[in-house]
Amino acid sequence: MVLPHRSLTLEPTADGSFTLFSEDFGEWFHSRGGAYTEAHITYVEGTNLASLAAAPRLTILDVCYGLGYNTAAALATVTALNPACQVQLVGLELDPRVPRQAVAQRLTSPWPQPIQAVLQQLADHGSVHQPHLQADLILGDARQTIQPLGQSGFQADVIFLDPFSPPRCPELWTVEFIQQVAHCLKPQGRLVTYSCAAAGRAALQQAGLYIGPVAASGRDWPGTLAQFSPVGLQPLSQREREHLLTRAAVPYRDSTLQDSAEMIRRRRQNEQNSSFLIPTSQWRKRWLPPIPGSST
Ligand SMILES: C[S@@+](CC[C@H](N)C(=O)[O-])C[C@H]1O[C@@H](n2cnc3c(N)ncnc32)[C@H](O)[C@@H]1O
Repeated sequence: MVLPHRSLTLEPTADGSFTLFSEDFGEWFHSRGGAYTEAHITYVEGTNLASLAAAPRLTILDVCYGLGYNTAAALATVTALNPACQVQLVGLELDPRVPRQAVAQRLTSPWPQPIQAVLQQLADHGSVHQPHLQADLILGDARQTIQPLGQSGFQADVIFLDPFSPPRCPELWTVEFIQQVAHCLKPQGRLVTYSCAAAGRAALQQAGLYIGPVAASGRDWPGTLAQFSPVGLQPLSQREREHLLTRAAVPYRDSTLQDSAEMIRRRRQNEQNSSFLIPTSQWRKRWLPPIPGSST
């Protein structure tokens, strides 16, 4: 995989925190409605991390660490509620420029100082050893870095899954990659993502997970909470269930975990073209009627 090399542009979001725009992926790193708010609402509240913080130990996997906001929000929550909790955190990230830029441009300065220090050390040295925290930022393509992690027996209570959207970054939404991620989730663990894309949800289901909607901050649609048991999940709405019966739910596939984004997109397109599933346009007509006065 070619390392991202094009520019990362700083952008303010509605809650006053900053995000980046990636020219390589053509997308913002966070909801424009508020980057910090998204980390808190979608990831920390979405997994009900506060309820887990009372435990003596907590293991977190942050897939697509980026600027480290989800990690920061999680650590700030746990340390405020239970400073004695022994936290193990692993972040996976492709582009080393991103965590470094977040620190260099002081984008993380509103977090409490000890959290900022953790983010700085992760960006500079890749690991942090403190009496109550063992954190590692593993750089590289998450499709490869997750494999030895899973083989080592790593099991997370909570997984944050925060890639760019499926059309922009299909390699991190394939059935095969999601299976690797699910392999790192404890039987009682919770995985959360901002996305409700049918292809991603289908991949989560094919990896043996049950899914439910979860509030996704700053977006017009819910995110997804996934776990090995259906207990405690909100039911999917009829609109969401019907979405999973359309061609939009044909998942991305990448059996070697090495194909290019273009190959993965093309493979899915071919599978969609020959699929017996309902065309997604029918679902869209039923659930997303055109806005009155618009030409389409
Ligand atoms: C939406 S952003 C994540 C934002 C991040 N969670 C935060 O709080 O700042 C997606 C991230 O995925 C990273 N990424 C893209 N492709 C990747 C890959 N194959 N493996 C690991 N990380 C990848 C990008 O560099 C980017 O930092």
